[in-house]
Amino acid sequence: MTQQAFGKTADGTPATLYTMTNKNGMQVAITNYGGTVVSIKVPDRKGTIADVTHGYDDAAGYETGKAYFGGTIGRYGNRIAHGTFSIDGVQYALPKNDGENTLHGGLMGFNKVFWTVKDISGNGPVALQLDYVSKDGEEGFPGKLTVRVIFTLTDSDELKINYAATTDKKTVLNLTNHTYFNLGGSGTILEEELMLAADKFTPVDKGLIPTGVLQPVAGTPFDFRKPMVIGSRIGDDEEQLKFGRGYDHNWVLNSKGSAKPSLVATVFDTKSGRKMEVWTTEPGIQFYTGNFLDGTIKGKGGTPYVLRSALCLETQHFPDSPNHPSFPTTELLPGAKFSSETIYKFSTK
Ligand code: BGC
Repeated sequence: MTQQAFGKTADGTPATLYTMTNKNGMQVAITNYGGTVVSIKVPDRKGTIADVTHGYDDAAGYETGKAYFGGTIGRYGNRIAHGTFSIDGVQYALPKNDGENTLHGGLMGFNKVFWTVKDISGNGPVALQLDYVSKDGEEGFPGKLTVRVIFTLTDSDELKINYAATTDKKTVLNLTNHTYFNLGGSGTILEEELMLAADKFTPVDKGLIPTGVLQPVAGTPFDFRKPMVIGSRIGDDEEQLKFGRGYDHNWVLNSKGSAKPSLVATVFDTKSGRKMEVWTTEPGIQFYTGNFLDGTIKGKGGTPYVLRSALCLETQHFPDSPNHPSFPTTELLPGAKFSSETIYKFSTK
């Protein structure tokens, strides 16, 4: 584990970049600003290392950035319709930062705050523990939420993310990580192959809020049960793809939310040979194809991030669950402990 300065936020607070390296030379860098995954460096089939994630060169980039690159997302990942929900008859109002809706925790989500970081590697694999306490009422959410996220880089080339949270009042939460992956290291992700172990997805309205229906993927461009080239149907004349400007939907995982992580997605880049598996205990996954990237964002080393130059696979509970009692619950009660685990495993073939 190495540490280096990672610039400052506007108020002068210095950020730190922590780089974890495993025995194979795979590297994952994380900053305390936003609990953000800044880079993941893995070899291709010839052994050439590339950074397979989007991001910025310093904390200031993340502070002003609006794309959530690599961030730890909370208190509520994805959208809450009209920025409101009720618990036990009490209505809560959240800041609306995505048209009429609240996206990724509001204006100052968990990706825009400093986390307390501790190296907990010991004798095992390299690991970082990140802690944050979200105040009662922060961004409109009830209850003081104590959150711990542990990032572990194993010698099997896995980035393992363990989330834990407790609250002092009934609240809602949906924690995820928003890394943008491009297994080729550059270009677009349209030729990469994706598998999603999901028979259904949650279709959305124009504002990308789930209608509440769990729709079978069979016979639609949303069927990734067998590996499919991402670009092969993304341009189909289909209402859901139009609403999302591509893929920007939640898939209902067949594993349903399992006690142990289940294999729910694989991405394979035929050109470089890099492969990524996603394992999770969560019941859903947001597959997003970087539809809002348009080349205006200049990321690491000044690289312009163009349309569909990366994809996100955000393990999660379903969007807008607090307003959909039929979805798996996102409520957390005092005295209960929330925990979930997601693994991004890299290999080549
Ligand atoms: C959402 C997209 C949003 C993106 C922000 C994704 O999780 O589903 O709609 O634009 O995050 O980068």
